[in-house]
Amino acid sequence: LSSYPSYIDLLPSIQTCNITNLPENYFLKYYLYHALTWPQLSFVAVVRPKNGYANGSVVGEYPKVVGYVLAKMEEEPTDGMQHGHITSLSVMRTHRRLGIAERLMRMSQRAMSESHRANYVSLHVRVSNTAALRLYRDTLRFEVEKVESKYYADGEDAYAMHLKLDGQW
Ligand code: ACO
Repeated sequence: LSSYPSYIDLLPSIQTCNITNLPENYFLKYYLYHALTWPQLSFVAVVRPKNGYANGSVVGEYPKVVGYVLAKMEEEPTDGMQHGHITSLSVMRTHRRLGIAERLMRMSQRAMSESHRANYVSLHVRVSNTAALRLYRDTLRFEVEKVESKYYADGEDAYAMHLKLDGQW
């Protein structure tokens, strides 16, 4: 047993990061479901507490989550192809443009391929989300598969995007 905070200990802090950065929010049990079902696929970026850790026990606060990627395997793929899906990604404003999102995505993509033999990874993104689109399309080389009309609760369309996982992270 370790007294360092585990991924599960950090779930409330991940949820706070999500609520701060995105209008698409989830019950805590949905984060827990991801963590228990596909523990290899989700990652966090944290800032360590000032006091650090002493003798293996946590002193002071838990680390602050400044970014996360919440990811899963598609459970019933309509095309019959084993593939991953990015449920949610965000980075706190204070820590943007440092390469955190790119790193989180590449770690998840690699784990999907190596742990679950995923052929590709899919995601949805708002058509107006220029920052995320730059990240997915230009940096990570995702391709737009189609536009899903009124995908979001407020009526905005989504790009359904995917990236073939061919061993390049
Ligand atoms: N404008 C233009 N390009 C950008 C921007 C931006 N604001 N942010 C990232 N990029 C592109 C750039 O090409 C960048 O490379 P560069 O800095 O060398 O030019 C590249 O993406 C990598 O950027 P990162 O530093 O890794 O991205 P960051 O850690 O800042 O996080 C993110 C990007 C996740 C989109 C962040 O802006 C965010 O949290 N936004 C709000 C939440 C959000 O939109 N999440 C995605 C929703 S879709 C989904 O969850 C599946």
